[in-house]
Amino acid sequence: MTINLSAFTFVSDLVKQDSAIIIGPGKEYLVESRLLPIARAEGYGDVGALIAKLQMTPDVRLRQRIVEAMTTNETSFFRDRDPFTLLNQVVFPELCRRRSATHRVTIWSAACSSGQEPYSIAMSALDHPLITSEWQVQILATDISEEILQRAENGRYSQLEVNRGLPAAMLVRHFERAETDWRVVPAVRSMVKFKRMNLGDPFDLPFMDVVFLRNVLIYFDSVTKADVLQRIRRVLRPDGFLFLGGSETTIGLDDGFERIAVGNATVYRPRGADPLETPLPAVGTAGLGVAAGRVSFPATQPVGAAAATTAASVPSARPAPAASAPASPAAGATGSWPWLSQLPIPPRSGPPRQPLN
Ligand SMILES: C[S@@+](CC[C@H](N)C(=O)[O-])C[C@H]1O[C@@H](n2cnc3c(N)ncnc32)[C@H](O)[C@@H]1O
Repeated sequence: MTINLSAFTFVSDLVKQDSAIIIGPGKEYLVESRLLPIARAEGYGDVGALIAKLQMTPDVRLRQRIVEAMTTNETSFFRDRDPFTLLNQVVFPELCRRRSATHRVTIWSAACSSGQEPYSIAMSALDHPLITSEWQVQILATDISEEILQRAENGRYSQLEVNRGLPAAMLVRHFERAETDWRVVPAVRSMVKFKRMNLGDPFDLPFMDVVFLRNVLIYFDSVTKADVLQRIRRVLRPDGFLFLGGSETTIGLDDGFERIAVGNATVYRPRGADPLETPLPAVGTAGLGVAAGRVSFPATQPVGAAAATTAASVPSARPAPAASAPASPAAGATGSWPWLSQLPIPPRSGPPRQPLN
């Protein structure tokens, strides 16, 4: 039996209030199926009884459980492939040139789910020939769900999960066996800091070079989408990069971003950013080609003056570790996180952004 309209409205209002997630009409079955395990665990016969109790007696812990249950945590390593090719072939080379004075790159995975996205970014950085051991690449990974963040922080994945999108060579390089599962090695885990954060709330964060805001705006209404994008723009450096999910866009929501499309991959930059010096990769019949794994840069790039400049102006690639090596050398894996508290926080109002470098 599905819940009645009043209980459904109560849940959808609560979820919108606490997470900005919209549960539209007709999703009674979804609420029912997601909340039934909670109702049972809390000792209620059905979802209606659980909601009735919450309507009478406010309970912060139960609210949080309900919100978490209504999130969709679908994700995979190197999801959609092409954005990670763009990260490897355009974004990292461009940042290596622009951040050569500090050797520091900060990346935010803003709805990280169970961690496959931030770990894919970390592995890409570790394997990138231009990101040598003198570079510090640190990734802040946030999500609204405590439960999913605990899984992410643990970095342990089933065979089925690693089979989804993770190249075999990366599994060998960056994972170790944990009984029948696989665990991300400490060198990769130490590059990622997990933190609970609700995108619907104001966020005070240091400037970021890259933001991954993938497959989460789809759950919000247009007003929230526009608001989140505007606030993301404030923490993104003026020459930074924003990745959205395949069905998401800034168009019609925030005209402060410029779209760069290469084949099926799209990346956004704050409008008015200096032109890219890194040549965009050629699009073949199979899309952008190299998805993940060791990138042969700049050989896979169109040969041009800018590519030559890139190769000359950044440190040479470090040697590849043997395929059987237990872990990669840890580029940027300091294990400590002073940058998060020490870097200047962009002002919430007034002039939007100031370059740091
Ligand atoms: C479909 S997953 C996307 C994961 C990953 N970014 C990807 O593209 O594979 C959406 C994630 O957004 C999180 N989420 C939903 N609403 C949120 C909010 N208001 N603030 C932060 N995270 C939220 C969910 O908990 C979920 O883990």
